[in-house]
Amino acid sequence: MKIAIFKERRPYETRVAATPETVKKLKGLGVEEIVIEAGAGTAAAYTDQAYGEAGATIVPDAAAAAQAADVIFKIQRPMAAAEGVDELSLLRQGHVLMSPLSALTDRELVQALAGKGVTAFALELIPRITRAQSMDILSSQANLAGYKSVLLAANHFGRIFPQMMTPAGTLAPSRAFIMGVGVAGLQAIATARRLGCVVTATDVRPATKEQVQSLGAKFVAVEDEEFKAAETAGGYAKEMSAEYRAKQAALVADHIKTQDIVITTALIPGRKAPVLVTEEMVSTMKPGSVIVDMAVEQGGNCPLSQYNVIVDVRGVKVIGPANLPGELATDSSALFARNLLNFITPLVDKETKALRIDTKDEVVKGTLVTQSGQIVHPALVQAAS
Ligand code: NAI
Repeated sequence: MKIAIFKERRPYETRVAATPETVKKLKGLGVEEIVIEAGAGTAAAYTDQAYGEAGATIVPDAAAAAQAADVIFKIQRPMAAAEGVDELSLLRQGHVLMSPLSALTDRELVQALAGKGVTAFALELIPRITRAQSMDILSSQANLAGYKSVLLAANHFGRIFPQMMTPAGTLAPSRAFIMGVGVAGLQAIATARRLGCVVTATDVRPATKEQVQSLGAKFVAVEDEEFKAAETAGGYAKEMSAEYRAKQAALVADHIKTQDIVITTALIPGRKAPVLVTEEMVSTMKPGSVIVDMAVEQGGNCPLSQYNVIVDVRGVKVIGPANLPGELATDSSALFARNLLNFITPLVDKETKALRIDTKDEVVKGTLVTQSGQIVHPALVQAAS
């Protein structure tokens, strides 16, 4: 088996899908060759020399890497010609692609991969079971993004976070409100607490209440019957009824007026992000307050946020960061690369060292989207029919 790593070409992407550490471990697994496009790790502070010393072969461009390999690791879904760079044309029949693909929403891409005869695994669909925790790219990246979101807010805020007593008088602690308590939200709570904020948080999943409290923050939510049942078997949020959303909005509207920092992380897999902070709510916030909308790529939790822009709304800054994990490229690449290593390890036959795809395996079934020219993922097949 030979694995290729490209330099990622989507805007704002600085991460890379393998590190010198994982190159070494992949070689230890029996991977014959790891072919890396020159400069693939530069933005994440991994040099060609370090990859070379770990045992990788450096080639001048992505085409040469693709040509030499049968498996391709990526951190961003391949770009199509219409997006400015044609990465799809590098893929050919028989290639195995392991990458986040936004498969539930980007049907065109999945169709194109099937049409080319590529065997594609969508890493964002790794099931949230105990065995797959070490492969979970959503968790590893969201965790770092949650941390960085708080630092970003701090940088754009004209006050300090902790209470500070000085000879010139006392500065009061800042108030941070975290909306959505998944992996990113939990890390944002922990980080804001460490920096001295008074933290409150909300979510629609009841299990989060205890988690919020255990981090020393206060839970704010409408805790009615619908709330008590608002979690899928997979641990994700359900889309809430219009009635619940109205009650939640009223509670949030009242709370948000007093907050300095609002970090929104609420997502529902495969759907547009729910609107949690309305334009009207923003208008009630104090000048100088900062909102970081981590859901901006999925449509945003605040209708005023714009992708990679800081919008000033009468003194309130609304930030829609483009790629938070990418701002911590060394660590986010390290964790992503380990996720991929842990994903491929059980798929490598111990004797032949070749890839053996067992379509009955729960992790394979959950992530395999195209095989033998067909779309095979149950969620996509069902949606098509
Ligand atoms: P996510 O990124 O899909 O969503 C972020 C958060 O937004 C979630 O907590 C969700 O409940 C919340 N949300 C959605 N709609 C909302 C609304 N209208 N108002 C307020 N909040 C709203 O979630 P993430 O971070 O991927 O985690 C989802 C769950 O999966 C968590 O419980 C996490 O601990 C769990 N998990 C389990 C793993 C495992 O067992 N292997 C691995 C990773 C996460």
